[in-house]
Amino acid sequence: MQALSPALAAQIAEARRVTALTGAGMSAESGVPTFRDAQTGLWARYDPAELATPEAFERDPSRVWQWYAWRRELVTRAEPNAGHRALARWARHARVTVVTQNVDGLHQQAGSPEVLELHGNLRRSICSAGCGEQPVGEGEPPPCPRCGAPLRPDVVWFGEMLPEAALNGALAAVEAADIVLSIGTANQVQPAASLPHLARRNGCLVVEVNPEETPLTPEADWSLRGTAAGLLPLLLEAATEQRVQRDE
Ligand code: OAD
Repeated sequence: MQALSPALAAQIAEARRVTALTGAGMSAESGVPTFRDAQTGLWARYDPAELATPEAFERDPSRVWQWYAWRRELVTRAEPNAGHRALARWARHARVTVVTQNVDGLHQQAGSPEVLELHGNLRRSICSAGCGEQPVGEGEPPPCPRCGAPLRPDVVWFGEMLPEAALNGALAAVEAADIVLSIGTANQVQPAASLPHLARRNGCLVVEVNPEETPLTPEADWSLRGTAAGLLPLLLEAATEQRVQRDE
């Protein structure tokens, strides 16, 4: 099986800085739906233009709020899977920066020490007029306790800028990495999708973990067909074993 290739395990065992770029597929085995998978993906059932844009929120704040409240419920009940836990464990052997497009907080829950959220976090709410993060009260959406403007989920919508600190941190983590892992993302949404290409240009090893091919597949050094919860523990186990043998 390609995931257990000794050559790959050796390269992983040598890595001191690992940057993991994760997308919705990372949390699929935690029961959180992806966006673009046919049948089960959220965008197969819902129109992003009506739910995930600033204009949609202006038009119908209550509908948008309720949709995110439903997704928040879903992720609150979800648990990190074996893939999240493997990445968290990896941080004991190397510096691991997780750069995620996910808004579910499951990497932090699994114990990953360094997580950069490119698309925000569903569990937080912010004032739509700019007062910052606020506690949620009654209402759909509830008013900001400071200025009364409607609260909104602290996520990035289509047409909005990514949080600058997270994006700059991601660029730096990709520049500094020995290995970039792209896990469970369709690699279709910018600027996240360009990060592995930047890594390739820097001569960094790029490893993809995804049951399906993506636009990154032809460019990746290794493209492993399988799931995050299935492959990451195997990969790390093999890498850790090699390292233990080498250090003995
Ligand atoms: P997508 O739903 O576009 O892609 C999910 C990817 O995960 C696909 O390539 C699947 O093949 C793969 N996948 C499915 N199950 C998997 C598993 N168990 N293990 C590993 N991979 C699996 O999700 P993203 O690429 O994350 O943005 O989407 C990027 C952004 O588009 C999201 O952050 C969201 C969405 O619109 C906003 O809402 C702004």
